[in-house]
Amino acid sequence: KKYHFIAFCGSLRKGSYNEMALKAMQMLAPSHITIEQVFYDHIPMYNADVHTELLEQVVPLAEKIQASDGVIFVSPEYNYSVPGGLKNVIDVLSRHPDKPFNEKAVAILGASQGNVGTARMQYHLRQVMVFLNAHVVNKPEIMIANAQHKFDESGNLTDEFIRKQLPLMLESLATLSDRFPRGTQG
Ligand code: FNR
Repeated sequence: KKYHFIAFCGSLRKGSYNEMALKAMQMLAPSHITIEQVFYDHIPMYNADVHTELLEQVVPLAEKIQASDGVIFVSPEYNYSVPGGLKNVIDVLSRHPDKPFNEKAVAILGASQGNVGTARMQYHLRQVMVFLNAHVVNKPEIMIANAQHKFDESGNLTDEFIRKQLPLMLESLATLSDRFPRGTQG
């Protein structure tokens, strides 16, 4: 069986370690798994006064999530939590009447230049996923600490342990998505 996952990078900057980790995950994915990165820097800040109707810009994103087998968040930790831009797009998506995250299989990982490698962000994002009724992979956890030492100058992941963990997380996400086969059913 083939699996297609949608991936959000929580960092918008060029040269992001998290984007490098996302690319490493794509490269190390087993052949039956594909990962499509989606972009959301065009999504405005959610404002219930302005956005009384569904934001059109978010519809293609919501549809991609719904048609996918699962969602991956690869994100830095900003001030011990989820980056505002990433939280915003989740908030906007959560207003979609089809509830794109409901019963979705989700994987969370991240890279930071700190010592705990986004652990605090990950547990905040898990909490957000509880409200959205998503199902988050429990094992393995992937926290890429001291990220400035884990990639080479071309952006390749050099940490052997993490290189082994990434495909394991993808297999866990695939297994989890089989338990919640929502796919294109909407
Ligand atoms: C950070 N950084 C950071 N690191 C960390 O381990 N814990 C934290 O709470 C924070 N807080 C934080 C807030 C803000 C606003 C910024 C810009 C940065 C540092 C962070 O780990 C580092 O900038 C990473 O390189 C960010 O990830 P990308 O952009 O390389 O993917």
